[in-house]
Amino acid sequence: MDTSLFEIYKQSHEYTLWPLKEDKFLSILYGTDSSDINNQTKVFTHIESNNPVGFVSAKIKDSKGVIVFLFVSPESRLKGVGTSLLKQSLEWFKQNDVHEIALGAKAGSYIFPGLPKNLGIEGFFKKNGFEISDDGLVDMYQDITNWDVPQSVFDSVESENVKINFSNEKVAKDIVEFTKNNFPNWYDNYKFDMERKKYEKVFYASIGDEIVGISKLWVGDCVWDLLFENNVGGGGALGVSEKHRGKGIGLAMKAWGTIKIKEKGIKYVWIGWTYAVDFYKKLGFKVWREYYKGKLMLK
Ligand SMILES: CC(C)(COP(=O)(O)OP(=O)(O)OC[C@H]1O[C@@H](n2cnc3c(N)ncnc32)[C@H](O)[C@@H]1OP(=O)(O)O)[C@@H](O)C(=O)NCCC(=O)NCCS
Repeated sequence: MDTSLFEIYKQSHEYTLWPLKEDKFLSILYGTDSSDINNQTKVFTHIESNNPVGFVSAKIKDSKGVIVFLFVSPESRLKGVGTSLLKQSLEWFKQNDVHEIALGAKAGSYIFPGLPKNLGIEGFFKKNGFEISDDGLVDMYQDITNWDVPQSVFDSVESENVKINFSNEKVAKDIVEFTKNNFPNWYDNYKFDMERKKYEKVFYASIGDEIVGISKLWVGDCVWDLLFENNVGGGGALGVSEKHRGKGIGLAMKAWGTIKIKEKGIKYVWIGWTYAVDFYKKLGFKVWREYYKGKLMLK
């Protein structure tokens, strides 16, 4: 692990927009973060006079390639370094028989879910053959200091006899089973938490004995801790079974989770990687940052 890569990033204008803690930055870059499961990571660096002036972190998972982070020191830009690093990573994808490439995420830990709009580098990727589009991908947030849940959010689910609770030993197996049947992408993740009895991290909605929704809670260790006064939490992997959608259960679960985070004295709730802007707006969340989708099919 070359810690000087963090130093060159730290001195850039981009760092002021997107500051990360060193350990988080390096663990994502090198693929040693807890969400780097069953993936491959490769970091290429560009060295001048014995010092790195640029780097790229590339990852592969399930035959998909991702450019997680490409960076060139400001004084070395517009000299072909970025192009050369990108080419090296594309070559590595080809050697591994990977032809579908995305920018940002979907192969383990990541910094951005797509290509941040505020970096102004979509032109560079377009020049290199990437298709850049806007599919509405955003992060959202809210300062919950004075937030209160609208009571109407719970009225509709109460009339349906929906109960929301933290998970426990008794329902752990059912939650894993529910995930397997309804949200197979999250199966590993929920199974991991239930096996380790992380009941305070997982909550669920039920009607009688039937589980109808699941979600997770987290506090701290967010990629953007520094932008939220080290005082941030959130929910995640929120899913309601198909036949129970449209009844307000998802919204009630998000509200329930937000109340629990507020009770812990947390100031901000952050929602990473979502398209459901109108849904979260109902609880007062606002768009925080926006991303393009970047895609390349390698021949
Ligand atoms: C984007 C970046 C990697 C480009 O690296 P670079 O070494 O300056 O790029 P190159 O010298 O290889 O540029 C090649 C071509 O792309 C063009 N280009 C470079 N940056 C560009 C930009 N921001 N917008 C549009 N075109 C750009 C250059 O003009 C050049 O065009 P030419 O061939 O017609 O002369 C670099 O600007 C950078 O590190 N920016 C910050 C990165 C960042 O925020 N990364 C996080 C998200 S991945």
